[in-house]
Amino acid sequence: MTILVTGGAGFIGSNFVLDWLRQSDEPVVNLDALTYAGNLENLASLQGDARHTFVKGDIGDRALVDRLLAEHRPRAVVHFAAESHVDRSIHGPGAFMKTNVEGTFTLLEAARAYWGTLADDARAGFRFHHVSTDEVYGSLKPEDPPFAETNPYEPNSPYSASKAASDHLVRAWHHTYGLPVVTTNCSNNYGPYHFPEKLIPLMIVNALAGKPLPVYGDGQQIRDWLYVTDHCSGIRAVLAGGRVGETYNIGGWNEKANIDIVKTVCALLDELRPSPEGSYARLITYVKDRPGHDRRYAIDARKIERELGWRPAETFETGIRKTVQWYLDHPEWVARVQSGAYREWLDKQYG
Ligand code: NAD
Ligand code: DAU
Repeated sequence: MTILVTGGAGFIGSNFVLDWLRQSDEPVVNLDALTYAGNLENLASLQGDARHTFVKGDIGDRALVDRLLAEHRPRAVVHFAAESHVDRSIHGPGAFMKTNVEGTFTLLEAARAYWGTLADDARAGFRFHHVSTDEVYGSLKPEDPPFAETNPYEPNSPYSASKAASDHLVRAWHHTYGLPVVTTNCSNNYGPYHFPEKLIPLMIVNALAGKPLPVYGDGQQIRDWLYVTDHCSGIRAVLAGGRVGETYNIGGWNEKANIDIVKTVCALLDELRPSPEGSYARLITYVKDRPGHDRRYAIDARKIERELGWRPAETFETGIRKTVQWYLDHPEWVARVQSGAYREWLDKQYG
């Protein structure tokens, strides 16, 4: 038995691969294009581990995907590969359409062709697990209930529109061709190996460098935060026991305003790495808002709890402390991801 993971050198994908191989001997073939967000260093502990095969390549390369499926004969595809950053999608939506929409289409077609060659038992057991986001549901008002799986899709950014499109393709490939798919829609993740263009790692990295902590608009936008290994355990639960054709929302019941997240990060750094210049909160700087900025996301995770008994293991308090500590313990990782490409992005976004 083998699984094919796409995007396994990114933030969530690498956490998933590491977690998977900590808990199982089932091999992983990891297909990743190593864009700016892919980092093989995340997987350094697997060097020489025969259970992990890394392949540098694009999910949009049909011949490559066909070859990998034929050679490794996986029982499942777990599809993380995507362009994932909302701000980048606003500056340049093309790459999001290419990977998230066209790439997912190519992967689905390759999976469908491969699945069609399997014997009955293997066909029934095969899964295409599509990893998606809560952003497809749009933005909640303060009084709205959290997103359930039955909420209509109302994506607002080029990123969320591209993910919504990919979710629809996955749904259609099940409905029309019978491909055994499951989709998970998860809220904001945080934890080790998170690329420092996203809110939490950016705040940690900037604070330690004595740089401004850029808070968009009034900082009162709400996100529902989940520690990354809890997302990974949710995916494993759905892959193992989720009903074919269904979607499952995954979230941590942790709604927080951005400004409170930033203040929490500052308070933890004040405790763990005090600055002689005073609290890191002095660096908080309100900047121009993100265009089309969604005000609030929140996940109703009762379906995955009820059907599969999944619950997050971390609270926000335990998860954020571990995360800040991880960045303090890995300055060399941070230094290396701050490559030329990343510096160019910071200049473009923040001036
Ligand atoms: P990430 O940007 O950190 O990693 C994406 C990975 O995909 C990188 O390793 C990159 O090299 C790879 N990749 C990009 N284009 C590719 C292509 N064409 N072919 C092969 N590989 C390619 O993203 P992430 O935060 O780890 O997110 C992973 C998945 O989870 C995405 O599908 C995202 O939409 C979804 N998601 C993310 C979050 C979150 O909070 N980060 C929450 C819910 C869902
Ligand atoms: O909800 C799940 C989504 O969470 C995933 O699908 C995306 O891939 C992931 O990037 C994330 O999207 P967000 O846009 O919510 O994450 P980001 O870290 O970019 O921003 C979190 C919030 O913080 C958002 O309201 C914007 C705000 N923000 C972000 C940055 C980078 C700031 O105020 N300042 C910043 O500099």
